[in-house]
Amino acid sequence: MITVELEELVESLLEICRRVDAKGFVTATDGNISARLPNGNFLATPTSLNKGFVAAGDLVEITPEGVRVAGNRNPSSEMDMHLFIYKNRPDVNAVVHCHPVYATGFAAARIPMNECLFPEVIVGLGAVPLAPYATPSTREVSEAIGPFVKSADAILLANHGVVTYGSDLWDAYFKMEKVEHAAHIQFVARMLGGEKTLTSDDIAKLRAISVASYGKDFSGKPACEVLSPEPDTEFTQEEFRKIVEEVKKRLSQST
Ligand code: 13P
Repeated sequence: MITVELEELVESLLEICRRVDAKGFVTATDGNISARLPNGNFLATPTSLNKGFVAAGDLVEITPEGVRVAGNRNPSSEMDMHLFIYKNRPDVNAVVHCHPVYATGFAAARIPMNECLFPEVIVGLGAVPLAPYATPSTREVSEAIGPFVKSADAILLANHGVVTYGSDLWDAYFKMEKVEHAAHIQFVARMLGGEKTLTSDDIAKLRAISVASYGKDFSGKPACEVLSPEPDTEFTQEEFRKIVEEVKKRLSQST
């Protein structure tokens, strides 16, 4: 029986296939997307199909062991990587793998996106580490992302692309958008004379705002690097407390 929940999941997956194609995050038959199903299996895009053309009947259901139990097409050749992420991250319910131009440029230049540059990225995503090169579609990819999978929610795959994952399909997809957008801006900044990172003082204030607004500290995410030549001022516990109080007060007034 097809439930409303399953119908919505399929709709989201197909819409994200169309978006990654329309945004140029993939070309030809690149990329793959999957989501955890309520029965513990996974719904995934098939191998070798342009994402702009994926229809509900093309999707495949596979078990955590990688066995296809529904669908007529063969599953994505990157399922081993997807299953590895689900196995290591019980909190993850969707995985998106693409080859967006700017972020894959960083991956090909083997430059991790780990500088403290954009407040939204620092608070919402953390640094994006670079996994060593691994032959696509082989178990090597899982081994390469192994050291990063638990701490990061987005990983650059050297000379290959990007993988992002999250609590649901949209969360995983928006992380892909965020990574590509940040890579694009960082590239432009580099062309304009070089990006300047935030200071550790700036990061401490962001941390205070993250705690006050979202009730969570982003220090659990991969830490970004402060490369700014500007000297840091001391950011005291008292200042931290003041920012938290100020944001909380503003939030309570706006509700
Ligand atoms: P699939 O078509 O098998 O999903 O592979 C595409 C891809 O991007 C490999 O990295």
